[in-house]
Formats: sequence, C-alpha cells, structure tokens
Amino acid sequence: MTQGDAPLKLAIIYYSSYGTNYQMALTAAEAARAEGAEVKVLRVRETAPPEAVQSQGPWAEHAELTKDVPMATLDDLEWADAYLFSTPTRYGGAASQMRSFFDTTGGLWAEGKLANKAASVMTSAQNPNGGQESTLLTVYSSLMHWGCVLVPPGYTDPAVFAAGGNPYGASVTANGQPIPEADHEAVRHQARRLVQFGRKIRG
Ligand SMILES: Cc1cc2nc3c(=O)[nH]c(=O)nc-3n(C[C@H](O)[C@H](O)[C@H](O)COP(=O)(O)O)c2cc1C
Repeated sequence: MTQGDAPLKLAIIYYSSYGTNYQMALTAAEAARAEGAEVKVLRVRETAPPEAVQSQGPWAEHAELTKDVPMATLDDLEWADAYLFSTPTRYGGAASQMRSFFDTTGGLWAEGKLANKAASVMTSAQNPNGGQESTLLTVYSSLMHWGCVLVPPGYTDPAVFAAGGNPYGASVTANGQPIPEADHEAVRHQARRLVQFGRKIRG
C-alpha cells in the first residue's frame, strides 16, 4: 500500500470546559471517519487549578465525564497528517489551555515536523459576535508558523451560511442549549473538507 492509499491520519485536538468543543470534536470525528480518515480525538491538558474547576459544577462535571479522553501529545502531532483544533473563545482569543499545548511544540517545530500538514480550526463563544474570528485567526497564525497548509471552510457549502457556519471555521454559539443541527452540519462540512484536502496535500 502506498502512502496515497493509506487513510488520512487526522488528530482532532480540543479544549472544553463545559462540553461545547468536546461535542464539536465528536461530530467532526464522525464525519471525518465517514470520509475515510483514521481519527484520534484528543484533549489538551487542563491547566486551571483544581479548585477553579471544582468551583463550577458544569466544569467539574465535564472534566469528570471526559477524564478518559486521551491527552494530546507531541507524538500525536508527529503521527497526524492533518490537524483540526477546537477551542472556546476566551476574551477574543484561544483558551490558555490550548495556548499552553502550543507552547510545548517548539522542539517539533525546530525539527520541521509540524510542517506540511493540512490544518483547520473551530471555536465556540457565548455571544454571536463574541470574538470568534479573532480566536480562529490567532490559532491559524500559529499554524502558519508551523508551516501547515490551512484548510478553512470558506463559503464552499450551504452549511457555512447557517448561524454556526463561518468561512474562517465553524463557530458555535455556546448558550447553554444543545448545539443546533445546523451548527453540527457546519462542523461536518469543515471536517470532510479537511480530510479531502488533507489527502491531496499529503499526496
Ligand atoms: C474566561 C472566559 C472568557 C470568555 N470570553 C468570551 C469572549 O470573549 N466572547 C464570548 O462570546 N464568550 C466568551 N466566553 C464564553 C466561552 O466562549 C464559552 O464558555 C465557551 O465557548 C464554551 O465552550 P466549552 O463548552 O467547550 O467550554 C468566555 C468564557 C470564559 C470562562
């Protein structure tokens, strides 16, 4: 089997306090697997102090629910042909937990091992105009430093025109309600497109 025949290896790496980005990661994984990818869903390490997590019921419950989700490692970054990151918007940027993970990648970056991977980014925010795009852009900036080939959704599917659609990357409004089906569809489209272009980029 040549590399071109092998399934695309996709690492979906997320941070989530309350479950939104976790759900987005699961939806993306299902769509990417249906598109033929080999997928790992991985969470980044919680860096907030335990007392902060325990001080909020929903945060503590979600941490307990997902404690067995494997933690993203540098080996996973090396393993993957493509990356899909999902992070909450925090004051108009990525969650510091995600930034902390990025800050562990200098060694791989120096060896050129993060280059030439297809990559895309998703986010959620509480407000419909709460800084989603600045979050996505800051993560994409780091991915450019890595030498990734960016695969944003663009306006390439009707799903992008729905509320959670965004040409920069799926942007779910996290308002305590279940994620609407239209937003899941925007996530699915982004994941499928990443797999399709990831295969071309990997060759
Ligand atoms: C410290 C902090 C900062 C936040 N900043 C923003 C923000 O700038 N804009 C916004 O719309 N929501 C903001 N939020 C809400 C988060 O985006 C929301 O909790 C998140 O999208 C939920 O994702 P999760 O369920 O995966 O944790 C903030 C939340 C926290 C805790």
